[in-house]
Amino acid sequence: MEDNLIKIGVVDRDGSENILEIPTDINLSLMEILRASEYEILATCGGMALCATCHVEVIEGLESLAPASDQELDMLDTLPDADDQSRLACQLYLQNCNNGMKIKIKGALQS
Ligand code: FES
Repeated sequence: MEDNLIKIGVVDRDGSENILEIPTDINLSLMEILRASEYEILATCGGMALCATCHVEVIEGLESLAPASDQELDMLDTLPDADDQSRLACQLYLQNCNNGMKIKIKGALQS
């Protein structure tokens, strides 16, 4: 692994899976990275933890993430399909320790 470049697995809504290489020295959230990689995420609120359309399920590597804030948890609480592996991608800034993480995109396509 190059310094500051990690790989994460991304499962799309249709079940297709890809590996994304993500530089960790850019100041972008996982939501912004997924959108830049052409995944369909509405991100209606622009990354303010207010719309939940960037909902992802963390399949592997949940323990390597910083804990969710109260605001993120409150927003996740509004989702019928959220569980204890759910996070808002706009609140996640990945670091080298997140290498090998795997997520599934779950956010609604209509807010
Ligand atoms: S983009 Fe709206 S909650 Fe993440």
